Amino acid sequence: MQGLNISGVSMVYELPNGVKVEALSDVNFSLEPGAVLSVLGPSGCGKTTLLNILAGFLAPTQGEVILNGHPIEGPDAERGMVFQQGALFEWLTVSENVGFGPAMKGMSKKEVKEKVESWLVTVGLQDFGDKAVYELSGGMQQRVALARCLANDPDLILMDEPLGALDALTREKMQSLILKLWKETGKTIIVITHSVEEALFLGQKLFVMAPRPGRIEKRYNLPFAERGLVEDPRSIKTEPEFIEVREEVLSMIWGMEEQIMGQL
Ligand SMILES: Nc1ncnc2c1ncn2[C@@H]1O[C@H](COP(=O)(O)OP(=O)(O)O)[C@@H](O)[C@H]1O
Ligand SMILES: [Mg+2]
Repeated sequence: MQGLNISGVSMVYELPNGVKVEALSDVNFSLEPGAVLSVLGPSGCGKTTLLNILAGFLAPTQGEVILNGHPIEGPDAERGMVFQQGALFEWLTVSENVGFGPAMKGMSKKEVKEKVESWLVTVGLQDFGDKAVYELSGGMQQRVALARCLANDPDLILMDEPLGALDALTREKMQSLILKLWKETGKTIIVITHSVEEALFLGQKLFVMAPRPGRIEKRYNLPFAERGLVEDPRSIKTEPEFIEVREEVLSMIWGMEEQIMGQL
């Protein structure tokens, strides 16, 4: 079966003093190929744990994670990651970063070059291939990170706060770029973000997670990602339907944060 299927996934960490932390409890969901899901929730609700399990960096203490019919048992090029920042190879040029995966797979120099050029055009960096990573702005570095991930042709793309370090204007532009890449590649994408607005804008599905134990508290199906491909992002984000869901989600998360503060 194609797509992602997660059933009964729990993750319990055991601290050196024997205390157990239930980072995820009985998480269940399916994603069809080409879907985009965003995940929101207060700090400590298990978002990064979930992503690390999907990446194959961590094995869950219970449950099953199946991608395209086979279990996820470790890291693999079928799953690509995009982190907040700092995950590029600083000692390589932009082109060498994007071409790293294809070159490792044994593609010819010519094929790698063609692939790199085409991805740099797609992310709007066609004139920057020879630059060093440190010469680029934060937004441009994240464009490189997206291109590098896509050049590996993964089935599933996992993003942990990919735009979290960017200024507001760059962030908006990058949200539109993520939607464009989603549309053009048909990849399945999971984005973790702290921004409610971003989560609503990027996710066809949105999960709001809650802590202690980490779990999916509420699920939404949203129309904004599809519309963001063709309509002006600002007008979508300022319309009543968007604002209504935004406020509902915000107050849910604030409620959880107050509860967490009360327990400290
Ligand atoms: N390696 C670890 N060992 C012990 N506890 C951990 C570890 N990683 C995360 N946790 C705990 O698991 C819970 C979920 O963490 P995490 O997945 O990082 O949440 P989030 O990304 O939503 O902030 C937190 O209570 C955190 O302290
Ligand atoms: Mg985290």
